[in-house]
Amino acid sequence: DIISNRNLLLDAQKRNYAVPAFNIHNLETTKVVVEAAEELNSPIIIAATPGTIKFAGARYLINIMKSAAADSTIPIAFHLDHHENIEDIKESIKLGCKSVMIDASALEYEENIAKVREVVEFARLYDVSVEAELGKLVGQEDDIEVSAADSELTDPNLAADFVKRTGIDSLAVAIGTAHGLYKKDPKIDYERLKAIENNVDVPLVLHGASGVPGKDVKKSIEMGITKVNIATELKIAFSDAVKNYFKKYPEANDPRKYLKPGKESMKKLVKKKIKLCGSVNKG
Ligand code: 13P
Ligand code: ZN
Ligand code: NA
Repeated sequence: DIISNRNLLLDAQKRNYAVPAFNIHNLETTKVVVEAAEELNSPIIIAATPGTIKFAGARYLINIMKSAAADSTIPIAFHLDHHENIEDIKESIKLGCKSVMIDASALEYEENIAKVREVVEFARLYDVSVEAELGKLVGQEDDIEVSAADSELTDPNLAADFVKRTGIDSLAVAIGTAHGLYKKDPKIDYERLKAIENNVDVPLVLHGASGVPGKDVKKSIEMGITKVNIATELKIAFSDAVKNYFKKYPEANDPRKYLKPGKESMKKLVKKKIKLCGSVNKG
């Protein structure tokens, strides 16, 4: 069955790799991620934003995940990414989802804690793992858009208090990455990551990994990142390949044909990211 990401991330923390979290949107992209992970024997987190849940339907999507997990040889966590609405989270948990992110990072510190705490208390009843964010990543993910002026790196001193008072299982940190691509390579604040890692016991999560050079992803993992979130690059790989297909075959109309190159291209990239995370054969 689909599992929480608690044990996945604790193992990653212990053995110094990261579990990749891939954002999916439908059956096709889910299958791509699962097949790639199976071929490399990697644990995976399959992530869905509120926009994706709305697009695909919570029950449909969770049933796809359950069926993927039932047939699979690797551990699969299905994770609600960047959820802000507590009622939506509760609904998906009741449908069997075991891993959630409550993103209250736009709120003031005390309000962020209170909202996360409420989700943690509910999640405990269902053995669901909870991720929350302290600080604010610049860029756009779904309907959440943060300008450079409003962005904020994670305060290492507050991080310990935040984790303790919320009771979260993992902490999403803002250390210089952004949602979406970059105009120039991001500058990751490794000193900050080190300080957070020193202050906090729970596994740390890196958002915005699309566009981050491989060496920086690797270094972040060495320094304590245990979950790496990847969305935008996958969408680009898929859609570019489909666009090329239509350029070549403008009359094409069979989705089983025109989606194929998208799947293949995305699958290559998923495998590359799994290798980058060091999660090969950790399944
Ligand atoms: P990217 O789109 O930059 O890969 O960010 C993904 C992410 O953080 C999903 O939560
Ligand atoms: Zn994110
Ligand atoms: Na990014």
